[in-house]
Amino acid sequence: MEQYIIKGGKPLEGEVTIAGAKNAALGILAAAIMTDEKVVIENVPYVSDTITLLKAISNIGATVVYRDKHTVEICGKGIRDDENLAVDDEYIRKIRASYYLIGALLGKYKFANVALPGGCDIGSRPIDLHIKGFEMLGATTEIVTGGRIVARADSLKGAHIYLDTVSVGATINIMLAAALSEGKTTIENAAKEPHIVDVANFLNTMGANIKGAGTDVIRIRGVQKLHGAEYSIIPDQIEAGTFMAMAVATRGNILIKNVIPKHLEAISSKLLEMGATVIEYDDSVRVMADGKLRPTQIKTLPYPGFPTDMQAQMAAALALASGTSIVTESIFENRFRYVSELCRMGAKIRVEGNSAFITGIERYNGARLVASDLRAGAALVIAALAADGFSTIEDIQYIKRGYEEFASKVRELGGEMEIVDSDQEIQKFKLRVG
Ligand code: UD1
Repeated sequence: MEQYIIKGGKPLEGEVTIAGAKNAALGILAAAIMTDEKVVIENVPYVSDTITLLKAISNIGATVVYRDKHTVEICGKGIRDDENLAVDDEYIRKIRASYYLIGALLGKYKFANVALPGGCDIGSRPIDLHIKGFEMLGATTEIVTGGRIVARADSLKGAHIYLDTVSVGATINIMLAAALSEGKTTIENAAKEPHIVDVANFLNTMGANIKGAGTDVIRIRGVQKLHGAEYSIIPDQIEAGTFMAMAVATRGNILIKNVIPKHLEAISSKLLEMGATVIEYDDSVRVMADGKLRPTQIKTLPYPGFPTDMQAQMAAALALASGTSIVTESIFENRFRYVSELCRMGAKIRVEGNSAFITGIERYNGARLVASDLRAGAALVIAALAADGFSTIEDIQYIKRGYEEFASKVRELGGEMEIVDSDQEIQKFKLRVG
């Protein structure tokens, strides 16, 4: 079974280039099938979530061609537009964002039959707000045997939709369906994440009429048809943030390239509070740290607040600060599953309710670790790179969902990290790095 092996203890130094945003890509790739014309998407991260979504799209009849590793050509013309159109394969259930195919297909064909989404197990992740949105647009929905959701409508009509909770997924999904409905839709209390703006920009490039993305009120005037487009996805805020936290935890100096510094402000300000140096350039950011780190308090919130997807990685760095930090998770209920793993490396962290109380230690010790979800896995990589000695991390399929070439990017920064598949390979690595 594939796992990472890491020898920690070195400050990571050098340059790393960030891939396209996974969560924007998932919305955009789903939206791409809403036209019968050809769409070309650039800067698509080559990670298992996007590869899986593209497989699902191709399984229902769309043409998907990789022009190169990060550029995909999609044509939704061949999708079978009939009652048998069902998105369901053994992979699609594993990714959360399969739900975007409900909005995309419902908008285009007024019918969708999609396996209910899986994704990381970070607490109960309902899709009631998505369903409420589709129903307000005039669709009926039912959960059918086999764990699929079927949504259908004679026609979709614009509506005024208030989201009770700020939800990234529901905002994007309603935007997708409403783009091809009749009349005006308003989404109030919409999520404002950069990837919402990116999906809206992409839809507009295809001929949609969406205004206000990035604010909490999004106005959509439905159009009859969307057309072909070329589009480049924004850089991944969370991949960038992960390398920022890695620079700090290893007391390194990393220039993180291909980023939008504005999207990183919440992360940068916490790293500054910890005593790191953060220098912003037009499309890159340098993060450095040496000496003692200071503790701080973090509370996850919808954008522009501190992203929940960076909570675990920051906790991994804060466990090395001198003093007590408090990290509060306010979006998902089950996002501290990495804590027991960090404690096995020597961290002193106590979880009470939705807060983690972290008392800083000098060093982590390497250990045999298991990733419980994507970002938890990234946190373990950070801790292992800062630790004394060797660590192994199992269940890296979670990490591969969202980090492209993680091990080789770390090696470019001078870190010792490899994917290994057997005890023999582990021994070889140990002999090589000493
Ligand atoms: C998306 C991201 C995920 C990120 C999260 C929060 C994708 C593919 N995933 O997930 O990486 O951690 O945003 O930034 O983009 N909720 C409901 N009912 C719903 C939908 C959500 O109650 O119908 C609740 C959730 O349980 C959660 C909160 O709303 O407490 C936010 O969830 P949401 O923003 O929808 O997260 P996801 O779209 O699942």
